[in-house]
Amino acid sequence: MSEQVPATNQSFYDRISHAYDLISDAGEHKAREQGEQTLNVQSGENVLEIGFGTGNTLLHLAEAVGESGRVSGIDVSTGMLEVATRKVESKGLADRVDLSVGDARQLPYKDDSFDAVFASFTLELFSLNDIPAVLAEVARVLKPGGRLGVVSMATVQEGEKASALEKTYVWMHQHFPHIVDCQPIDVVELVEGAGLQVQEKVEMTIWTMPVRCVVATVS
Ligand SMILES: C[S@@+](CC[C@H](N)C(=O)[O-])C[C@H]1O[C@@H](n2cnc3c(N)ncnc32)[C@H](O)[C@@H]1O
Repeated sequence: MSEQVPATNQSFYDRISHAYDLISDAGEHKAREQGEQTLNVQSGENVLEIGFGTGNTLLHLAEAVGESGRVSGIDVSTGMLEVATRKVESKGLADRVDLSVGDARQLPYKDDSFDAVFASFTLELFSLNDIPAVLAEVARVLKPGGRLGVVSMATVQEGEKASALEKTYVWMHQHFPHIVDCQPIDVVELVEGAGLQVQEKVEMTIWTMPVRCVVATVS
């Protein structure tokens, strides 16, 4: 397994799991919800969320798949698992949700298992060397024609200038990766590089930081 050691992320997210919604959710929830809407999960579908965090999207996915569908979730943090499990149980949705602790670079699911996979603010945590491995795993577990929905901090589009916030993120990630563990990524290029076909793309900003929601399919 290369570069990014899961334990680093794991202990960081374990520590912040109980406060995560307070720390991070001011702007991110809008982008997450845009991503969910673009992925457009249907009743009866079998869906996986990678890096489910405190479980806000899991609840929406579980509502969308209905009683005949299933939602699986994988996250490297046991702290996040505890927070998300409590939310899922308190909404009475536990019978259609299966949560696991694990690493997205080695998904513990069979080939062709899911109609859709969703990941928000998670792909950009992996090193640029590791992202293709995560996307290859996603392509493996998606059924033919299955959809991947990604919401991520994004590099600026051609001809645009990076905002001060984006430049700060990139600099901090390069110099202090243990503090700023994510970096803006070109999600379209990465997803297409993994052999998926981008079907929809929505551009947003959070506090001047470009954020991109992409839905792509496997053939
Ligand atoms: C920035 S949080 C985003 C959480 C949630 N998706 C959201 O939008 O609020 C990233 C999540 O990815 C999880 N994560 C980090 N590295 C991971 C890995 N290697 N495999 C699976 N999950 C991972 C973290 O524990 C954390 O819950």
